Amino acid sequence: MDAISTTSLKPTRYDSTTVGLHWLTAALIIVMFTLAEIWDFLPHGSAAKKALQSLHISLGIILTLVLVVRLTWRFTRGTKIPVASKNIQEVAAVAMQHALYLLLVVQIVLGYVFRWAQAESFMFFGLFPVQFATLKDKALDHTVGNFHDIIGWTIIVLAGLHAAAALMHHYVLKDDVLSRMLPEKLQK
Ligand code: HEM
Ligand code: HEM
Repeated sequence: MDAISTTSLKPTRYDSTTVGLHWLTAALIIVMFTLAEIWDFLPHGSAAKKALQSLHISLGIILTLVLVVRLTWRFTRGTKIPVASKNIQEVAAVAMQHALYLLLVVQIVLGYVFRWAQAESFMFFGLFPVQFATLKDKALDHTVGNFHDIIGWTIIVLAGLHAAAALMHHYVLKDDVLSRMLPEKLQK
């Protein structure tokens, strides 16, 4: 009830589960993308490169679970708030949120197919080896790798624009769009 305005009975901020899942998703994506950009500089086949790739895939499995929980929560009990903007900005904000969800699902599926085609084992958080397939498919590996790379960059660029819009709401328009997605303690 504390997330509901007493005058309008409309939610005025996201519930803590939605907020937690939003920031967990964002953190995982930024860390996973950064790992991929770092291992690009490491020698092919080196132990350090393999370790970063294993961490990327392990975090990818966690991201899969987080996204399943997040979408289930959103479609059931999660707070839904209409976007704050009007007209073309409203269309852009809604399209951006849907695009991010869709690209995340596609990127996750591609990630599994990528590893499947590579037929290489990886250490799940350094604990035990996991292998999705044993027969290597070089053509599929190459094609899926290109798409996974392009979609990874697209997610980062769109999320950057989405974050810039949120910061503009906070610092320029001075409304509550950012603070309603922040933990209660950090709200004004
Ligand atoms: C939003 C989430 C993700 C982002 C932003 C992301 C980003 C990237 C990027 C930029 C690369 C480097 C591509 C290249 O240089 O060819 C990469 C590689 C890879 N990703 Fe992801 N990825 C994500 C999710 C996943 C998931 C969920 C999995 C699987 C569970 C996965 C598995 C892989 C694999 C197997 C590689 C290749 C590693 C290698 O070269 O051996 N990724 N990812
Ligand atoms: C990789 C990073 C990110 C992804 C994938 C992402 C994705 C999303 C998605 C899908 C929503 C819609 C929530 C819903 O109603 O279901 C959302 C909402 C929101 N995000 Fe992000 N986000 C990311 C990073 C950020 C960052 C860095 C900020 C702030 C600087 C931010 C601020 C917000 C705000 C304020 C909302 C609520 C918008 C509203 O109520 O109209 N996000 N985000």
